[in-house]
Amino acid sequence: MFTVEKGLDLKQDMQTLVVGIYSDDKKPTGLTSDIDNAMDGHITELFKNEDLSAKLKKVTRIHTFGALGPKRIYFVGLGLRKDLTYRTLSEAFGKAAKELKQHKQEDISVALDSFTSEAVDFKQTVHAMAEAFLLATYQFNDYKQRKNEKRYTLASIKVHSDENAELVESGIKSGEAYAAGTNVARDLVNTPGNLLTPTDLAEQAVDIAKKHGFEYDVLERKDMLELGMGALLAVSQGSDQEPKMIVVKYKAKENWDDVLTFVGKGLTFDAGGYSLKPALNMHEMKSDMGGSAAVLGAMETIGHLKPDVNIMFVIPSSENLINGSAMKPGDVLTSMSGKTIEVTNTDAEGRLILADAITYAKEQGASYIVDLATLTGGVVVALGDIASGVMSNDDEFFNMLQQSADEAGEYVWRLPYFGPYKKLLRTSNVADLVNSAGRPAHPVQGGSFLAEFVGETPWLHLDIAGTAYSNKSNDLGPKGATGAMTRSIVKLVEKFESKK
Ligand code: BES
Ligand code: MN
Ligand code: ZN
Repeated sequence: MFTVEKGLDLKQDMQTLVVGIYSDDKKPTGLTSDIDNAMDGHITELFKNEDLSAKLKKVTRIHTFGALGPKRIYFVGLGLRKDLTYRTLSEAFGKAAKELKQHKQEDISVALDSFTSEAVDFKQTVHAMAEAFLLATYQFNDYKQRKNEKRYTLASIKVHSDENAELVESGIKSGEAYAAGTNVARDLVNTPGNLLTPTDLAEQAVDIAKKHGFEYDVLERKDMLELGMGALLAVSQGSDQEPKMIVVKYKAKENWDDVLTFVGKGLTFDAGGYSLKPALNMHEMKSDMGGSAAVLGAMETIGHLKPDVNIMFVIPSSENLINGSAMKPGDVLTSMSGKTIEVTNTDAEGRLILADAITYAKEQGASYIVDLATLTGGVVVALGDIASGVMSNDDEFFNMLQQSADEAGEYVWRLPYFGPYKKLLRTSNVADLVNSAGRPAHPVQGGSFLAEFVGETPWLHLDIAGTAYSNKSNDLGPKGATGAMTRSIVKLVEKFESKK
């Protein structure tokens, strides 16, 4: 879809040209000044009358009426050069892409060099452009009957630049890889529970693993019984669907050490079990496999980038429903680790399946653990759909994630995990742990429970309950699944690669 071309000839025929403008420039400069000259000063005039503005994310379309090769030009406002960040730049590209989509513009030329600044590295600028176009125009292949209606597809994007073509190409490649992974995550989350069971999720994971030549293994119920995964099995007891534990290994090095491990919650539907959820928004609980989706999305991106880092992906998957053999409040489970758990709330099921996944991951050689989960309603109340809540037992590891999220244009916010927070769930009369101790600090309880199984291994817990799925669209995508944290964890992998 992307092609790279040296230079930009304004006499050349084009459907649509996309140009970045900065508000530091009080009058048209560079490319914009060439456009202005060809149009007898009309651009200067538009600026004067404030019909054209370089305010951040302001997109203005003009027609050239034959004065220039491009039939129409989309000016994309970028604000002040010094204030630009990766996040605002990609949001501006996303906003432009959304307008291009709305106007059904399928063949686009981008004047890439007009978007450059000192604040964002050139390769990241190219990456942002490619990524944002693919994210912002994402559309779920839904189940509507829609007859005779042609779907919008971004057919071609011609990227014009005077910079080194290889550098431009490589920025495009990585932007495409990040977007592809994020959109894989979105597709998985948008797929309803009847069409994405744990078996389906495992199939999709295996498909991605095979495509990139990764090692994989899918544990079945009998394997779980043998391994003593009492927590995962208890959650799946109430469902007719077979539980799965999906394990994929990307072995980049000769030795299987320094293994960065991603563990993703794969609840393909969460009704709450006997601690039943209210009916009102229960349908949205098809998104309770958002953690596993981000992990699989990252796997897709990593398959394209092939970084020099050993990576393991572990996904416990189940439904949380009710039947005659479903787990009951008060039940006591024995997890794979040997720790016993009193189930005080069957709706706190994510931490149960993750506990066994974390224990298994450690057994399989995990040296660093990052879990991603739509774990608590509390984090939605606290942070909304903007930032993902994070807990960690390792400051350096957290700082790496914080930087990765910044560079990926996503937000994270750290929750406390110290002193008394570490013992929040050691309150049972009959077992080592309860799975819920009620409302106080409830998002922290979730992470604190997982930490009991993580032990000393450096660990990050990403609660994406608020960010994985949104009822509002944003500059980089439609409402529904967002693919949240897919990009940030791939950035984290790249940080690991450059650190070692
Ligand atoms: N999957 C839910 C959390 C959730 C809530 C995700 C809203 C997305 C949007 C999780 O399994 C859950 O039910 N958590 C309970 C835990 C409680 C019982 C301790 C919650 O947050 O209410
Ligand atoms: Mn639940
Ligand atoms: Zn859940």
